[in-house]
Parts: sequence; structure tokens; C-alpha cells
Amino acid sequence: MGVNEPKGRLRLGVNIDHVATVRNARGGGTPDPLRAAKIAEAAGADGITAHLREDRRHIGDADIEGLMTTLSVPLNFEMAATDEMQRIALRHKPHAVCIVPEKREERTTEGGLEVAREENRLAHFIAPLREAGCRVSIFIAADPRQIEAAHRIGAEVIELHTGAYCDAHAEGHLDARDAELERLRDMAAFADSLGLEVHAGHGLTYDTVQPVAAFPQVMELNIGHFLIGEAIFRGLDPAIREMRRLMDEARG
Ligand code: PXP
Repeated sequence: MGVNEPKGRLRLGVNIDHVATVRNARGGGTPDPLRAAKIAEAAGADGITAHLREDRRHIGDADIEGLMTTLSVPLNFEMAATDEMQRIALRHKPHAVCIVPEKREERTTEGGLEVAREENRLAHFIAPLREAGCRVSIFIAADPRQIEAAHRIGAEVIELHTGAYCDAHAEGHLDARDAELERLRDMAAFADSLGLEVHAGHGLTYDTVQPVAAFPQVMELNIGHFLIGEAIFRGLDPAIREMRRLMDEARG
């Protein structure tokens, strides 16, 4: 297989966190993230992603319970590297666990995990998750130090943070955007050369998805906020189908 040939069909993981954000704004039961997950499945999502934050600001424990019992596609459970989250993950044993950094005061996951600084602790942290059969992914910046550290601790997957690329695009800083894209491209190839499976996500939109989807090493994109926002205007099913179409088109 040539280096520029895609490694396989690009998977779409739909992140449903912000359906729960809207629900929680009123404290009731609607809109229901589980219903959104079922629509996403029918629209072609290959997986559902949900981030159980320490402060439960969007997804709650009952949502994870519900997703585990009702989904037909795999759940990618995003969580911080805390004892509480490890216990929850070991109880549910989702298909995939993505370790993300978490700060209480942030609006969203602002950067990648500092794996290099916490290598020992993280290696011990993910070992039982791997033993339980979860595919462990680490959400990191496109930085060779972090990629090498993720590899050393035994992660099978890395997810590259595309936020800086998407922000530069949104702010019209095109040189910075192109530089970020170049970095993502190089780091996807580097991670792949180490034998890591490469995923990417954060901030992706219809305007920014295609260059990332075209990286041959990227196997999965996780996309949430934009899709849930777009669903207000065109409905969740068509919003997801359009993202899927753009991804397939980029993949050629
Ligand atoms: N991937 C990871 C690891 C994330 O933490 C998030 C946000 O929760 C996403 C993807 C999705 O980002 P967005 O909601 O901006 O599409």
C-alpha cells in the first residue's frame, strides 16, 4: 500500500455532548441524547462519542448507562484520567476510552493531554482499561514528544487535536491555518509509522473537515458541536449525512 493511499474507510464518531448541554439548560429530559445517538446511527455514524466530565455539565451517568444498553455502534467514552472515571469505565467496558485533559474552568477541551509529563502515572492508569478490553486513545496536540510518549505508555490510538487548525480557519488566519494543517499531516504520518491508529477531532465543520479527512493515516474523526448546531437548521440526520458525504468525497 502506498503512503498516500487511505488505510481504510474513514469512520465518523458523532459526539452527542451538546444535546445534553441543551437538555441541561432546563434541567428536564429533552432533548434526549439517546434519541440523538439513535438518529446518528441511522444517518451513518460509525460510533457515538460522549464525554462524561467531572462536573457532569452535559452528559450524565445515566446517559452513559443508556448508551451502553441501547447503542448498536461502539461507544467512545471520553474521560479525564481520574480514579472516579476509571471506575466508571471499568464498570461499563465501552469499546473505546479516550483520555482527555479536563479543567473545570474551561469551556471545552482546550488542549491535548500532557502525556510526556505524566508518563508513569498514565501508563499505570490505562493498563487496567486495556486489560478490560477497551481500546485506549489519548487526545493530544500534534507534537512528536506527546506522540512518542503516548506510544511508550501503551496506547493503541491517538486522537490529534484539530482545534488550533479550526480556530485559525475561523479567524481568517490562513497562513497559521495552513501551518497547523501541515503539522497535523506530518504528525498523522509519524504516529502511523509508530504503529498507532490515528484519529482526529475538535472544532471540525463542513469548511474544515475535508483536508483532515484526506490524510490517508486518519481512521476516525470525532465531531460534535458543529453537527448539533447545524441540526437546528437542517435536522440532525441531514446534518450528519452531509458531513459523511464531505468525508467520503475528501477520501476520494
Ligand atoms: N474529540 C475529543 C477528544 C473531544 O474532547 C471533543 C470535544 O468534546 C471532540 C472530539 C469533538 O469536538 P467538537 O464538539 O468541537 O466537534
